[in-house]
Amino acid sequence: MAHTILLLVVLLLSSTTTISTSKRTQPKFSAIFYFGDSVLDTGNNNYIPTLAVGNHAPYGRNFPGRKPTGRFSNGRLVPDLLNEKLQLKEFSPPFLEKDLSNNDIMTGVNFASAGSGFEDQTSRLSNTLPMSKQVNLFKEYLLRLRNIVGEKEASRIIENSLIFISSGTNDFTRYYRSLKRKKMDIGEYQDSVLRIAQASVKELFSLGGRQFCLAGLPPFGCTPIQITLSGDPDRACVDEQNRDAQAYNSKLEKLLPALQGSLHGSKIVYLDAYQAFKEILDNPTKYGFIEITRGCCGTGLREVGLLCNALSPICRNESSFVFYDAVHPTERVYRITTDYILKNAIPQFS
Ligand SMILES: *[C@@H]1O[C@H](CO)[C@@H](O)[C@H](O)[C@H]1NC(C)=O
Repeated sequence: MAHTILLLVVLLLSSTTTISTSKRTQPKFSAIFYFGDSVLDTGNNNYIPTLAVGNHAPYGRNFPGRKPTGRFSNGRLVPDLLNEKLQLKEFSPPFLEKDLSNNDIMTGVNFASAGSGFEDQTSRLSNTLPMSKQVNLFKEYLLRLRNIVGEKEASRIIENSLIFISSGTNDFTRYYRSLKRKKMDIGEYQDSVLRIAQASVKELFSLGGRQFCLAGLPPFGCTPIQITLSGDPDRACVDEQNRDAQAYNSKLEKLLPALQGSLHGSKIVYLDAYQAFKEILDNPTKYGFIEITRGCCGTGLREVGLLCNALSPICRNESSFVFYDAVHPTERVYRITTDYILKNAIPQFS
């Protein structure tokens, strides 16, 4: 009965809106789930005992209500923007948030954790949620979803959802600093990270996921902090790191068709995050950016997380900066990236 009334209300609402937006169709995905690091984390780290947090000023300065939420940027992130463009909702709620509504649960939540990587070890120092823990949280999520909509509808929602994964940068930036580098060369390390990435997709598939988008690594050698650590007075991107990122990406792109073939009924799409981002860095003025090697927060050379705070000086116009802090892009970059995803990755899902 309640369902019938709800359906009627939905029909009435949609018949009044079809006049103005006749092109409006059903959302392409029933829900979207996000797994990964700070590029996607919309606030999970606020609920775990870690210092890797962005829930203080000047983060969120251009977020609705000028509110710091844990998002490492001045405004919304790709998960928020993609959810909105794909007609699900305006934001991507962190799963660890206490008061999630039933509707939040039904249209997808976010499991990403800033500072994390595919490897458990990457999260150990920062005490964040590695991919394995994020996948475990997805199991908890499934129990909640089944409680709300029942077993059958839950399976339908998961089957028609999109699972978006973007991680790995923190694994590699840790690799460069760690002793691991002596024991394992970069090629071997890339392979070991890729094994974890594949295992994560397989496990999410076994839990009912069918449609996956896997992002490659961005050109992280161009982040202000990596440039600063390299000590280059001309502040050029760290070529070695960018080359390593590209090598990892081509391995990832090559293995996905085989992975898709081995998981019957799956669709696994590669997202070239490197190209999406490099296009902006190579043509900043085309996109209206003036500063590409310093963040907007503080000196822009090394401040991130707790070091980017209310006492930090802040740039006058964040829209002309590619980076908001020494690691993370501004909302304007995320908007351009979202358009890239909508153009290049989403159409590959039928
Ligand atoms: C801020 O920068 C953007 C992008 O370059 C530009 O379009 C806008 O006019 C600037 N705003 C101000 C107040 O200067």
